Amino acid sequence: MNPTPLLTTPFHSHATATEVLDGVDLTGRRVVVTGGASGIGVETVRALATAGAEVTVAVRNPATAEPLVRDIAALPGPGSVRAQAIDLADLGSVAAFVRGWQGPLDALVANAGVMALPDRQVTAEGWEMQLAVNHLGHFALALGLHDNLRAAGDARIVVVSSGAHRNAAFDFDDPHFAHRPYDRWAAYAQSKTADVLFAVGARRWGADGITANALNPGWISTNLQRHVDDETMRALGAMDEDGNIIEQPYYKTPLQGAATSVLLAASPLVNGVTGRYFEDNQEAPTVPADDTEHVGGVAPHALDPKAADRLWDYAADVIGR
Ligand SMILES: NC(=O)c1ccc[n+]([C@@H]2O[C@H](COP(=O)([O-])OP(=O)(O)OC[C@H]3O[C@@H](n4cnc5c(N)ncnc54)[C@H](OP(=O)(O)O)[C@@H]3O)[C@@H](O)[C@H]2O)c1
Repeated sequence: MNPTPLLTTPFHSHATATEVLDGVDLTGRRVVVTGGASGIGVETVRALATAGAEVTVAVRNPATAEPLVRDIAALPGPGSVRAQAIDLADLGSVAAFVRGWQGPLDALVANAGVMALPDRQVTAEGWEMQLAVNHLGHFALALGLHDNLRAAGDARIVVVSSGAHRNAAFDFDDPHFAHRPYDRWAAYAQSKTADVLFAVGARRWGADGITANALNPGWISTNLQRHVDDETMRALGAMDEDGNIIEQPYYKTPLQGAATSVLLAASPLVNGVTGRYFEDNQEAPTVPADDTEHVGGVAPHALDPKAADRLWDYAADVIGR
């Protein structure tokens, strides 16, 4: 099914972001990480900045990044962290972020996300919130920063998707659940399929020296699960009857969860690689969406180049580009 051999790296599934960037010098590299003040994002930022990068944390409330800014400022190396406001559900805020960005951009890590909002929420444009934040806002940001990415010469876009993408293809007839009953998990899954399709669609930027890849970070306990009730946690096998979290061997720490993100953002092991999907620090095999034998893998509906181009056209249209 995969036309080219899957890319492998020496890093095992629970390698940390620090291990992945060991020996990689990012001095002078400028990186934006959305949602970089929470969960996986914090460790993504910390690893990149510790390797020498100038990291801009794009967050709704810049004050939440202050502890991280202080931590990195106390380190001896050249790396730095600053915070700049963005609300990915608000196109005006995305445009303001873009206007505030000067000069080349070496990597954009589209990490921010929301999951399983219990009720259908919509943006000012009427977009379903998970699709708006997880995909459309990031798409608008990447398009806005395209010239800055091109100016870097060999820029990378990293899209943090999820294994949940396997549960839903992109519904071009009703992406915002306007005409079908809202299902919070289907909405999350669709938005995460859109994340992978975005990386596939961005192959059109190859001639500009821009590569894009998507990833599943694995299962990590973070604020992402804030909308997941105990009943669902139990159904997922993640909580016992007394409300205690049941640790599973495949769970990762945030530092381990950030590993594949920094691999794709900065490791020389993936130079020139574009339009692919990774998990556990390896390119993932394609598996049928309804395959119950494999936990991981990428569904064909997420790598479909026609769907990717169709989504690109749709997204460009709705954001007014
Ligand atoms: N944790 C997992 O097990 C897991 C598994 C698969 C995929 N992922 C993906 O990994 C990524 C990071 O998740 P995480 O687990 O680190 O979750 P997290 O701790 O909740 O972090 C998500 C970040 O997204 C930001 N965000 C939410 N809405 C936003 C908006 N409208 N504009 C700008 N930023 C916004 C949050 O900011 P606020 O603090 O302002 O809300 C937060 O910084 C997500 O894309 C998620 O889908 C996570």
